[in-house]
Amino acid sequence: MIKKKNVEKKFLEDGYFDFGSILNKKDCLILRDYINKKRPCSKKIFYKNEKEFLKKGRFKNYSPGEKDHNAIFNLNLNLDFIEKSKKFKKCVEAIVGKDYIIKKKSIIRSVPRRMHPKWALSFTKDIGRPNVNPYIKEEYQDVQYFQNVDFHQDMTRGIKFVTFYIYLDKVNKIDSPLNILSGTYKFGSTHYPHYLRPSESKNIWYYSNLQGNHMKSSQVSISGGVGKVFCFHGLNLHGTKLNNSKKPRISLRYLIQCNEKKNKNNIFLKSFKNCIGKIVEKRKLKNGFYFQRLDRTPKGNFLKTGSSIL
Ligand SMILES: [Fe+2]
Repeated sequence: MIKKKNVEKKFLEDGYFDFGSILNKKDCLILRDYINKKRPCSKKIFYKNEKEFLKKGRFKNYSPGEKDHNAIFNLNLNLDFIEKSKKFKKCVEAIVGKDYIIKKKSIIRSVPRRMHPKWALSFTKDIGRPNVNPYIKEEYQDVQYFQNVDFHQDMTRGIKFVTFYIYLDKVNKIDSPLNILSGTYKFGSTHYPHYLRPSESKNIWYYSNLQGNHMKSSQVSISGGVGKVFCFHGLNLHGTKLNNSKKPRISLRYLIQCNEKKNKNNIFLKSFKNCIGKIVEKRKLKNGFYFQRLDRTPKGNFLKTGSSIL
């Protein structure tokens, strides 16, 4: 049973909510096994070597789209056991209200470090947000592959959404669980790399908006079982450590919007009253860089910035 008051208090304070393992485990495992069969994760999905990557690879349009080049649609996956389940709907409605809109859904794979070919590892070394898709052959790019991901915000274009995550297998500390920095959405949109400094205390960070505001935030690691559902505010900082296990974790990620026309009275919209500063940073610098993503050149290449989470 979801207690709305508890959800509201927690989400407004920390910008996330963990609903626990609420989905049918058997259905989740059947789906996971099917994805594994149709989109196996191994060294073979990478370009053979750097030469092949430089010839065929690119740094644009390499991620699954909202409808096209997305394995959920390419494989005709039936996700009714999630999207039509009362439990899932209740979780989503508790945050964004009724008549919500699923903006995008995709399959996320956390690729173990040991599964990367050496040439790809040298490309991704010291890149804060190593999206692995550019190094993967085009036919497999309808799944989103990551290695580690430095703390970042999902909401970078001003479109308001909440990220819902579903674990399709058991995720322990070693399997690169999501880490969330509590309450960081309150600073609104800030540039990547975000200004974070570790406290002397474990799992505590100080976050600055570079306007004279400094926030103390707890790093919360979301481990859990098959069928776990959790969500976080599109502006909350989150990331994952390197996947040092053997298992390429599979999750589903939903970006969900509230229906502002039909439903204005929801927790998510309320949360923006807590935000100081802008909710989007559109500035383009003289050198062609976008202020929000200082780790990417105007051509889309990733720059080596190091990472706050490893
Ligand atoms: Fe993210």
